[in-house]
Amino acid sequence: MKNMIDIVQSVILNETGEAVVILDQTLLPTQKVYQTLKTPEDVWEAIYHLKVRGAPAIGIAAAYGAYLGAKQSGASTSAELYAAFGRVKDYLGSSRPTAVNLFWALERLEKRLVTEMKATADVGQLVAALKEEAEAIRLEDEQVCETIGTYALSLLKPGDGILTHCNAGTIATAKYGTALAPIYLGQQQGYQFKVYADETRPLLQGARLTAWELSEAGIDVTLICDNMASIVMSEGKVQAVLVGCDRVAANGDTANKIGTSGVAILAQHYGIPFYVCAPTSTIDLSCQTGKDIVIEERDATEITTKWYEEPMAPANVKTYNPAFDVTDHRLITAIITEKGILRPDFAEGLQSVMNQSEAK
Ligand code: MRU
Repeated sequence: MKNMIDIVQSVILNETGEAVVILDQTLLPTQKVYQTLKTPEDVWEAIYHLKVRGAPAIGIAAAYGAYLGAKQSGASTSAELYAAFGRVKDYLGSSRPTAVNLFWALERLEKRLVTEMKATADVGQLVAALKEEAEAIRLEDEQVCETIGTYALSLLKPGDGILTHCNAGTIATAKYGTALAPIYLGQQQGYQFKVYADETRPLLQGARLTAWELSEAGIDVTLICDNMASIVMSEGKVQAVLVGCDRVAANGDTANKIGTSGVAILAQHYGIPFYVCAPTSTIDLSCQTGKDIVIEERDATEITTKWYEEPMAPANVKTYNPAFDVTDHRLITAIITEKGILRPDFAEGLQSVMNQSEAK
């Protein structure tokens, strides 16, 4: 029987290369609907509204969107194409600010365009190169996630209880996920993990997405409210915390979904290892510390109005809705990348894995 990670794909290019197809994550878990995105504007809207979400998946979607923008630009010279690409790159880069994978993917496409322009001025060939690069980003992400999963699995034991926050699963990436990759790989080897999924207020990625994808895959998952992590840990049910991330600064400070830093503080209190699963595409050495990471603030209605329909708070109440927080590097036991497992002090290890990535 095929596992659901082989079946469900969060973001792909369609067969003709004319559109991006995404699984609309805002409709899960009740409806599994694929949406076809035909223009960069469609892609921007899907990223902004979290129809496609999770740092690696956002990067892949943006890369496809930039390719579509270049293809549809009507440019007749390479200079016109380059200018059009620059405009669509800036536009897609304005969709969400925190996950660095979005910017990483767009930069990578631009670099490829510049390299190809040295060899050819043919607009068709340049657009084809952009498509190839976007496809490569998606395919590489599968490999990267599988490798992260293998490293992370080496830190776990059969039967472990694992707590996770938000969704860093197969639908947040090309395949496997980052934090959930060792769970899928462990399942194939009979590890029998018991997963605790934080619901993840306000948009419930843990309840709607993590609990959904793990239970679809036949994995033992228990949904808890965010404020229950402490009791679950105190009862000895959790042997490791695994989370994904949206941006890792040079000193190891890590931005991830709002609430992650609180989980890390609890894990330290209870002596539970706290692991961050981070593809190198999520590492941003230009941020010295977490203070340099831009934290997205989202609409107040996400916390005041249930599914934008029923009020959950008094009208006009003051709100603050940061979508991410930064976990201090001193709370992190290890950062697991596709280049290996990094332990504190993270600065040197992060520099070294990024040097390896650049040398590739
Ligand atoms: O706002 P979201 O749902 O895009 O936030 C996603 C997360 O915080 C994930 O943990 C992170 O992007 C890693 S996904 C492999």
